[in-house]
Amino acid sequence: PIPPPPGPLVNDGLLLVNDPSHPFIQPGPDDLRGPCPGLNTLANHGVRKTLRPTVSEFHFAEFNQYLPRSGVARPDQLVTAVMEGFNLGNDFARFLVYQAHLIDGNPITNLISIGMKTPQTGPDPPAPAIVGGLSQHGTFEGDTSMTRVDAFFGNPAIFNETRFDEFSAFSMQFGVNGTYDINAAAELRHQRLEDSIQTNPELSFQSPRILSAFSEAVFPTIFFVDGRLDNGQLNLQAARSFFQPNKFPDNFFRQPAPVSFPTIQPLTQQLFDKHPFVPGMNNGTNNFIELPDTPALSDFCGIYDDIVNRVLKTQYPNPSGPLLEALQTNLNFLFSAVEGHNCTQAFPFGQ
Ligand code: HEM
Ligand code: MG
Repeated sequence: PIPPPPGPLVNDGLLLVNDPSHPFIQPGPDDLRGPCPGLNTLANHGVRKTLRPTVSEFHFAEFNQYLPRSGVARPDQLVTAVMEGFNLGNDFARFLVYQAHLIDGNPITNLISIGMKTPQTGPDPPAPAIVGGLSQHGTFEGDTSMTRVDAFFGNPAIFNETRFDEFSAFSMQFGVNGTYDINAAAELRHQRLEDSIQTNPELSFQSPRILSAFSEAVFPTIFFVDGRLDNGQLNLQAARSFFQPNKFPDNFFRQPAPVSFPTIQPLTQQLFDKHPFVPGMNNGTNNFIELPDTPALSDFCGIYDDIVNRVLKTQYPNPSGPLLEALQTNLNFLFSAVEGHNCTQAFPFGQ
């Protein structure tokens, strides 16, 4: 049986999350890290090496804090970790996690890699399923990232200093007091798209990547800012700590209350309104073909539907048996996250 995602935190307030029971330890050679600075950080502050439990032992609550340092986790552990470590709201956490698990994880073993594909997630379901982990390009990971290069230019999962220098420059130029704030985010997000249009012949910028790109531009202004300050202004020292060593700053406190769609969506809309765009893809450099019939950033239910009926269905055209059951279960978990949006539930494999 697949463990269901946890409900909301019982104690959901301000909390010191970089505490002595969650020390930073550099990942070892076998530990997987990927394109998400948030999850990498939770793994680097995860269960202590000396206590490293087997997967089944993770059912004990005391181990269920942040992420396994291996970088391989169950989706319900990921939901718990992002709630505990950053105070993501429960539905928002479910949305990110079950989307990721369905397209990058192994539904049979119920494990996902936060980095590249690995045997640690167990035997794969049949192709064209990928089970590629979060580093898999063209699934959840996509183009125009802030601190990573597009897959066309190299490994899109690893920190890139040139990219971070640009992140810093935009913060200095557009942010209040040289911080990464919503104004810096708006300009950088625009510039990253423009840059890829000019230079990446294989640029793709459409659903679902457009939603993650805009959300992730907003995340640092919220989740990477100390919850005691919570002013939407991320200083560059803390930014580097999260993006590069993937380390909580000293004495870091998480958000003072759970943060969910009602906070994130207006901010992504604000970014969009400053620099609107139509989804599309390059056909050669500087030749952006608009795809106005694909879901727009504002069309949340359209993007949900696209994830399930196109992205997922491409990997699982005709599943059966236990695989089908596992997919249906995870699809229900995903839908539980979007109910607040009044979307119609999608059933790519029938009801
Ligand atoms: C990027 C997954 C939670 C912050 C990414 C990417 C993935 C991902 C696949 C790469 C997308 C790309 O740039 O191409 C997830 C999943 C989460 C999660 C499955 C589960 C809840 C978080 C949290 C934070 C966070 C809690 C912050 C505290 C970011 C940021 C980026 C990112 C800032 C952009 C990196 C960049 O553009 O350089 N995430 N993430 N994520 N994530 Fe997460
Ligand atoms: Mg990327």
